[in-house]
Amino acid sequence: MRSGKSKVGLIGLGTVGKSVVKLWPRADGIILKRIVDKDKKKGDSALFSTKPDDILNDPEIDIVIELIGGINDAYRYIKSAIEKGKNVVTANKALLALKGEELEKLALAKGVSLGYEASVCAGIPIIRGIREGLAANRIRSIYGIINGTANFILSAMEEEGIGFARALSEAQEQGFAESNPTLDIDGLDSQHKLAILARLSFKTSVKLSDIYVEGIRRITHSDITYARELGYSIKLLAIAKAEGKRLDARVHPTLISKDNLLSSVRGIHNACFLEGDACGKMVFYGQGAGGLPTASAILSDVKAIASEKRGLFQMSSSGKVLEECLTGGSSRIGIVPIDELFTRYYVRFSAIDKPGVLARICDILGKHNISIVSVIQKERSGTRGVPIVMMTHKARESSMRKAISSIDRLNVVKEKSLFIRVEEVED
Ligand SMILES: NC(=O)c1ccc[n+]([C@@H]2O[C@H](COP(=O)([O-])OP(=O)(O)OC[C@H]3O[C@@H](n4cnc5c(N)ncnc54)[C@H](OP(=O)(O)O)[C@@H]3O)[C@@H](O)[C@H]2O)c1
Repeated sequence: MRSGKSKVGLIGLGTVGKSVVKLWPRADGIILKRIVDKDKKKGDSALFSTKPDDILNDPEIDIVIELIGGINDAYRYIKSAIEKGKNVVTANKALLALKGEELEKLALAKGVSLGYEASVCAGIPIIRGIREGLAANRIRSIYGIINGTANFILSAMEEEGIGFARALSEAQEQGFAESNPTLDIDGLDSQHKLAILARLSFKTSVKLSDIYVEGIRRITHSDITYARELGYSIKLLAIAKAEGKRLDARVHPTLISKDNLLSSVRGIHNACFLEGDACGKMVFYGQGAGGLPTASAILSDVKAIASEKRGLFQMSSSGKVLEECLTGGSSRIGIVPIDELFTRYYVRFSAIDKPGVLARICDILGKHNISIVSVIQKERSGTRGVPIVMMTHKARESSMRKAISSIDRLNVVKEKSLFIRVEEVED
């Protein structure tokens, strides 16, 4: 590691990049030597360039901040920086979920740090919390609301009594959702972040395809109302649990008790509920997105790396804990397939309201060993489909899927049925 004051190059002057520049006066004298963005119009200072090589080939720059997002260019720049012996700080969860393990191994081999506190829950120090603060623990479970956009939409549906499309437009109008909101509402952003959290927490390789993912597009305002009546909220949860020697990792809309702490997480906030075998249960809570909260985490990584260089900060991102994780425990453990899940379900059918329909649905559920706790049917109509909502006892997911597919083939059923998993999170 080079001695002297750190010099930093920043690639990507967008929402987060601009906030990093704004926070830079708090960088304790660490020098921001060069800023690169492909858009010339953003450059109004002598530090500005449009060429990433002005950072990557500068021997004085020892920390590179990557904030361009996306996969290909970001991967190339980060890999090249590490290969040249530079430390890297990034917020790029999509890239880390795909290539994080490879890049960390490369950083370890090159004796540099890869800091990515900003990639999960922005300003909430959850990466450092798990890696360092909870290093003496075996993590048993993580339940996270780790996508602010999806949580904003579900909260707006509940609080304002509006449907999914309207809540999504509100999120877009307020700048909380992209014009293409797929990553957020289809659960993919949560899947990326869960891959990073699960790898750190359970010290295992986690492929994105190991994590079952389902988004919130099919949740209606009626589902939220019925769930509330039954004593639950609907949240997009990212869940990772140690199940014996296997990992149960999934992202999907989930019914959680209204009394649970996670159920009171509103709007764009993030929260991660975690249980370690020594520390017990704890919650990380705060702003999980936005320029300044994300920049706060970027700068904290930069400062940690720069202090380590001066011998003040011994536990860097590529320090001892990570080394043990990568060389010792980072084998692949088995993944629990979603079909093996055994849980309670909320199910919504849309069926014609006439005698015998409910009995036919219950008969099919019974044949698949699914027993019902309660049924709600309020609207009445002879020919249109009306909602029938059921809560089940614990059942196997594979049985639930088979039952739903048989029920959906009945001619009295008017729409594809929806089931939502119920999770008992004890806080
Ligand atoms: N925004 C948040 O709240 C947040 C929170 C957590 C993590 N993150 C992560 O932080 C990263 C940056 O997000 P952001 O919201 O700041 O994105 P952004 O506003 O789109 O900024 C990215 C900037 O990088 C520029 N750029 C793109 N490709 C480039 C390249 N090959 N070379 C040079 N410049 C390039 C873009 O220019 P153009 O605009 O011309 O394309 C843009 O100015 C992403 O990985 C994101 O997932 C963001």
